[in-house]
Amino acid sequence: MPKEKTKKQKKSPPKVQAFQSVKGMADILPKDQNWWRMLRQVGFSVSELHDFYFIETPILEPAGLFEAGVGQSTDIVEKQMYSFKTKGGDLVVLRPEGTASVMRSYLEHHLGYFASPLKVFYYGPMFRYEKPQAGRERQFHQWGFEIVGDGDPVYDGQIILAALSFYKALKLKNVKVKINSIGCRVCRPNYRQRLKDYYNNRRDKLCRDCKERYEKNPLRLLDCKEAGCVELRAKAPIILDYLCQNCNNHLKSVLELIEDNGINYEPDPYLVRGLDYYNRTVFEFYIPEVDYALGAGGRYDYLSEILGGRLMPSVGVALGLERIIEAMKIQEIPPHLKAKPKIFFAAVGDKAKKASLKLMQELRESNIAVAEALGKKSLKAQLKSADKQKAPLAMIFGQKEAFESTVIVRDMRSGAQETVVLNRMVEEVKKRLH
Ligand code: HAM
Repeated sequence: MPKEKTKKQKKSPPKVQAFQSVKGMADILPKDQNWWRMLRQVGFSVSELHDFYFIETPILEPAGLFEAGVGQSTDIVEKQMYSFKTKGGDLVVLRPEGTASVMRSYLEHHLGYFASPLKVFYYGPMFRYEKPQAGRERQFHQWGFEIVGDGDPVYDGQIILAALSFYKALKLKNVKVKINSIGCRVCRPNYRQRLKDYYNNRRDKLCRDCKERYEKNPLRLLDCKEAGCVELRAKAPIILDYLCQNCNNHLKSVLELIEDNGINYEPDPYLVRGLDYYNRTVFEFYIPEVDYALGAGGRYDYLSEILGGRLMPSVGVALGLERIIEAMKIQEIPPHLKAKPKIFFAAVGDKAKKASLKLMQELRESNIAVAEALGKKSLKAQLKSADKQKAPLAMIFGQKEAFESTVIVRDMRSGAQETVVLNRMVEEVKKRLH
């Protein structure tokens, strides 16, 4: 006789914890694949049109790279790096941005011998421990362009144009460039001092963060969003009045170039950027509907020296891909793709199912994308999936067709069907797809 179940045996098994992604880090789901495919398609096409080579650097980098490159007193290095010690004792970080990594790679592999200037692009995830909010994630993706090894303003112009081509290809409207110069080693120290002089007896009116910025990085006092600090800044000296002749000429040339190209720009004397490696031109891209930048960049002539190389004038930009998707949604621009139509393969019966993998492979080898739902038994259920996938054509392969070496081609819009012999299958499909 079976024993009666005890109370203990009846108990349901302990619940398994339902895991969630780490705060501020999102999954990119299949439903969003059109957005990301579009971004990659546009990104590669724009990068190629502008003659940039692809570069991919590791996601983990030595912490010191960003401490030196981006700057000890920046928000990124002070507060936002995901860092940890490896088992071997090295301090590494999840990269918070791509520019310092590209320069590290440039110096490590002497990429100046490959091309001069070197024009490279990259894309991938970046990591910053920030407070997640609209337009701000802890893992986000950038598409970056860098031109390493030339100080000519024509390259500042090229970088701005590459970024604008990206937005234009996506059909984003009213993208504006905010632009400024933050001077160089010659003129910036003088301006920095003027700024400190101005704020010196107004320090008690600054917000807490700005009190610290006053000591460590006074230029950043200018881009604080706190009302009190914004009010104070109205009478602060602006750098444009302190630029040396060379920086002045450089800025003038960049502005002439972007004017010649009909670019919608706005000089912004308060734009200083949050990374220390910049000098001269800095810029950010905006649309009117949101107050965060869709992309940003500038010149970083001294970064190579900071990382142990020789002086290597350079300029670059990085575009925030999640922010671009958001901006497109706000402007009601759907993802546009030159997606290949895929055909749907339905098979019923064991013999047909067995043979169908080979037939699908034949189609795929002829560059025809094939979808299927072979796990579903009935033809009706399989064709329902074909409808859902919006396939223009379905191939129907049953026992009879398998026996006769034929297949039915069905136009999913009109419902018209035709039987074709298997050894003409690829030609017949191609004929109907074009
Ligand atoms: P950045 O301004 O720190 O510059 O970032 C560039 C862009 O990445 C921003 O304009 C924004 O679109 C996006 N972004 C930044 N942080 C986040 C975040 N937490 N969540 C979502 N999107 C974000 C740089 O990274 C420089 N490396 C750009 C550069 C390239 N300069 C010269 N070359």
